[in-house]
Amino acid sequence: MPAYPITDHIYDVVVVGAGGSGLRATLGMGMAGLKTACITKVFPTRSHTVAAQGGISAALGNMGPDDWRWHFYDSVKGSDWLGDQDAIEFMCHNAMQAVIELEHFGVPFSRTPEGKIYQRPFGGHTTEYGEGPMAKRACAAADRTGHAIIHTLYQQSLKHNAEFFVEYFALDLIMDEDGGCVGVMAWNLEDGSIHRFHAHLVVLATGGYGRAFFSTTQAHTCTGDGNAMALRAGVPMQDPEFFQFHPTGVYGAGVLITEGSRGEGGYLTNAEGERFMERYAPHAKDLASRDVVSRAMTIEIREGRGCGPNKDHIMLHLEHLDPKVLHERLPGISETAKIFAGVDVTREPIPVLPTAHYAMGGVPTNYHGEALNPTAADPERVVPGLMAIGEAACVSVHGANRLGTNSLLDLVVFGRAAAHRAAELVQPGAPHKPLPASAGDNAVARLDKVRNAKGRLKAGEIRLAMQRTMQADCAIFRGPTLANGVAKIADVTASLNDLVLSDRSMIWNTDLVEALELDNLLAQSTVTMGSALARTESRGAHAREDYPDRDDVHWLKHSLAWLDAAGKVRLGYRPVHLNTMSNEVESIPPKARVY
Ligand code: FUM
Repeated sequence: MPAYPITDHIYDVVVVGAGGSGLRATLGMGMAGLKTACITKVFPTRSHTVAAQGGISAALGNMGPDDWRWHFYDSVKGSDWLGDQDAIEFMCHNAMQAVIELEHFGVPFSRTPEGKIYQRPFGGHTTEYGEGPMAKRACAAADRTGHAIIHTLYQQSLKHNAEFFVEYFALDLIMDEDGGCVGVMAWNLEDGSIHRFHAHLVVLATGGYGRAFFSTTQAHTCTGDGNAMALRAGVPMQDPEFFQFHPTGVYGAGVLITEGSRGEGGYLTNAEGERFMERYAPHAKDLASRDVVSRAMTIEIREGRGCGPNKDHIMLHLEHLDPKVLHERLPGISETAKIFAGVDVTREPIPVLPTAHYAMGGVPTNYHGEALNPTAADPERVVPGLMAIGEAACVSVHGANRLGTNSLLDLVVFGRAAAHRAAELVQPGAPHKPLPASAGDNAVARLDKVRNAKGRLKAGEIRLAMQRTMQADCAIFRGPTLANGVAKIADVTASLNDLVLSDRSMIWNTDLVEALELDNLLAQSTVTMGSALARTESRGAHAREDYPDRDDVHWLKHSLAWLDAAGKVRLGYRPVHLNTMSNEVESIPPKARVY
């Protein structure tokens, strides 16, 4: 192996990823006086949070009655009781303050005529513990809420002296002999140099892995690099079998059309022009939770009521809405529909199809953001020096199915909580534990091996095989083909041994980036498939045709999936927290979930 000169850095904390959670943590750590580096493979304002559209949930009650306890109830029910109720309480109770803080940071929210933050209805968000009308809870900046938030958080982070390492691709964690994390290795794409970051704490804020699927609303960068680094470091993924499909991706392109469009009055129809959601969710209709709507759309298509010459999509209608509403509240998706579907939303419906959108699973953490590596004896065992937040983490506030707008909330609430915890754990400038003698060797060896791969298959070919397998065997409905899917993903992973790269340089080598990302995606596809096959029930986004019912007796528990060096999955389980954190709200015992 050729020598790779290494540049060393020492920080109190290193945050990997500059989306909403990474920036909120970076900002909070900077405010706490910690020397903080944020390393990111794309410029911060290009992180995938920029694509979040419809809003961030908080029971502000600006546009009708609301209560954070109703939000808590909706999130527990939305999670199909797999969410940890203490963490959900923490999120919903802190939501109002988190949104007001964003407002004070400068987020340009849309306004009501009285000047309050504008709020719209969203799927699964109700009033009166599900008995009342839909809540207006999604605080929105038109349909570009993520864009507004990420620009503001980046500006605030700069104000608080965070140091950014932009276009640095994180390679692997540096673990010590006690199983703690002491740093992270990264490759500077611009000049090809390798960097070793030594830190008291590393925070994984690397987002989701939607690119494991063929059709996704997620950016090309969403390859779950942090999750894969955690797996390689011996840390499990929790609940990876729960992957959300958003009902309204543009047919063919997969680009997101916000659920906020249905919040503003949009509705879905099948080929017969029927508003079919009335049959599946008589109360919430088009604003039922995403798993319910995505399944209903899929059933309509399967039963021959899909639209178009191939009867393979559903129509989303906005043309009946006041053009002023479309212009003011939904300008982004009006443009998206024009560009990607050639549709003028003021005149015609948008062809849509459920599309892979969000990983409910991730690195298990407590509500402080500390990563866990549970054992049977200690299900809350913390990995010293490692945190995870945002979509990379599984707190678990989303359980088996996330409610729309709870993602942006999760990012800022737990980004902030991680910063508070870091300030408790780390004394600014305190001396560091020594690095192991071999620190970073594995990361460099992996990079070198992939860089010099001389097989026959291009990364793009292997990636397509993975994406087609995930889409065919592990999507909205999973059934008898799941075992076949597990075998196919193992074959696709094995085909990495036949990888070829056409570019062996170190400077802006996108061929090498994509190959490393592919390796990361395959690790997550493997644990997703393995956990899905093992869970013989249907819950939230995990709908097994061969096991159609929820089974609380055997499966009211979190999955844990470790991946060994040979690519084999080891499964374990951990109890769901059915208790709340305080007596301000009562825990909700499992019951049938109807909308
Ligand atoms: O539909 C949307 O605007 C997406 C929101 C979310 O995933 O939270």
